[in-house]
Amino acid sequence: MPTLVSHPDEVKVISRRFGMGAADIDKYLELDGYKAVQQAIAEGPEWIINTMKASGLRGRGGAGFPTGMKWSFVPKQSEKPKYVLVNGDESEPGTCKDHVIFLHDPHAVIEGTMIAGLAIGSKLGFIYLRGEYRYLLKIVEKAVADAYARGFLGKNIFGTGVDFDIVTQTGAGAYEVGEESALMESLEGKRGVPRIKPPFPAVVGLYGGPTVINNAETIANAPHILLMGGEAYAKLGTERNGGTRLFGISGHVERPGVYELPMGYSLRKAIYDVAGGIKDGKKLKAVVPGGASCPVLTADEIDVGLDFDQMAKAGTMLGSGGIVVLDETVSIVEFALRTISFYQHESCGWCIPCREGTDWIKKTLTRVHAGGGTKKDIDNVQYLADNMMGRTFCPLGDAAAMPTLGFVKKFRKEFEDYIEGKKAGTPIITVQELVG
Ligand code: NAI
Repeated sequence: MPTLVSHPDEVKVISRRFGMGAADIDKYLELDGYKAVQQAIAEGPEWIINTMKASGLRGRGGAGFPTGMKWSFVPKQSEKPKYVLVNGDESEPGTCKDHVIFLHDPHAVIEGTMIAGLAIGSKLGFIYLRGEYRYLLKIVEKAVADAYARGFLGKNIFGTGVDFDIVTQTGAGAYEVGEESALMESLEGKRGVPRIKPPFPAVVGLYGGPTVINNAETIANAPHILLMGGEAYAKLGTERNGGTRLFGISGHVERPGVYELPMGYSLRKAIYDVAGGIKDGKKLKAVVPGGASCPVLTADEIDVGLDFDQMAKAGTMLGSGGIVVLDETVSIVEFALRTISFYQHESCGWCIPCREGTDWIKKTLTRVHAGGGTKKDIDNVQYLADNMMGRTFCPLGDAAAMPTLGFVKKFRKEFEDYIEGKKAGTPIITVQELVG
């Protein structure tokens, strides 16, 4: 089990049961578990949605769409069954927060799923875990079984006449199925490729029925929000960015780990105070602030608040809360190649700009990295990435293009020096190892 970290600046809402044995249903009950869902049954859908709206909670998967609003988009009347789908396919490199929730507080995900179901009038929820999270599946399956055994799931839950079921499912290791429509295809037993949007899942989703699909952290926040009140939760964060969020801080820091910080918390403080600063007294070179798809920030761009709007203003994204810290020894040429190699490998191949764009960028950067590049290659990489932006079915194309553009624009001189033979940093692995 990964060691839990903590820091005095943390504001523990979603993480307040971490390390307390709350995967055990009795412990969860002792720590206010399953109180929020009973309150939700008593108060009804309108109250749930209004509370979620008041909380200012925005999707923690990365896009930051307002959760209460998403739930309110589900049509009240529907011929087809409605579903709740928990996206636990956490695959964005640098992102490691949802697994901590499944590990330490799986009942919060179950309870949140039930609350979302009550809000939209659904009787069936799915919890979808990434293929590599098989070890977590056992924990989640046990939690679901325990909830059934207590009468919290199934027919007539809590003796209220309400029915609600939960089914668990794992993927098979494809990054692409983290995209919501590809995830639904996968869950339906098909190849995991994206669907055209609109229609959005809230209207036409799983098996064609209206579906609320939320990231695991988003869903697990719901019980806490109902218990503390929407306004109280909103106040913990900044304007339009309610509450707290889990940040996975990794890379060259003294104390890597998953920390819960208020929205808007300073990125500089997150790196230097919370995570203990740069490892071994080295200098900071760059930060990938919200998972691999977010444009890189240089060492002098980290005086920014960690919320969706401030990060957008800084030209990057809050994304999925995965802060990757790079010290002065990192070669950006190599880092850019490693990043694009991931996206090229994970592109589902469904649309051409993504399939071909990632492949050509990787080929070009491989040549540059191997010492055979020219300055024209840097322009070509930028041209390819520019032409992928906004031209793919799903955000994987943008996710590959955005960091690439960040690297070549902000570190162009390093690429040029590299090409001229003045290599920066020490390669961590060889290209042969990288491409297998
Ligand atoms: P999006 O902005 O298209 O949608 C966000 C959510 O809002 C979706 O659930 C969508 O269905 C819903 N939505 C948007 N407009 C709507 C409307 N008019 N009516 C109803 N619902 C609407 O973003 P998308 O494509 O879902 O996600 C992209 C994000 O995913 C990126 O920002 C990236 O940070 C993140 N990401 C996270 C990963 C992870 O492992 N957590 C992996 C890769 C990317």
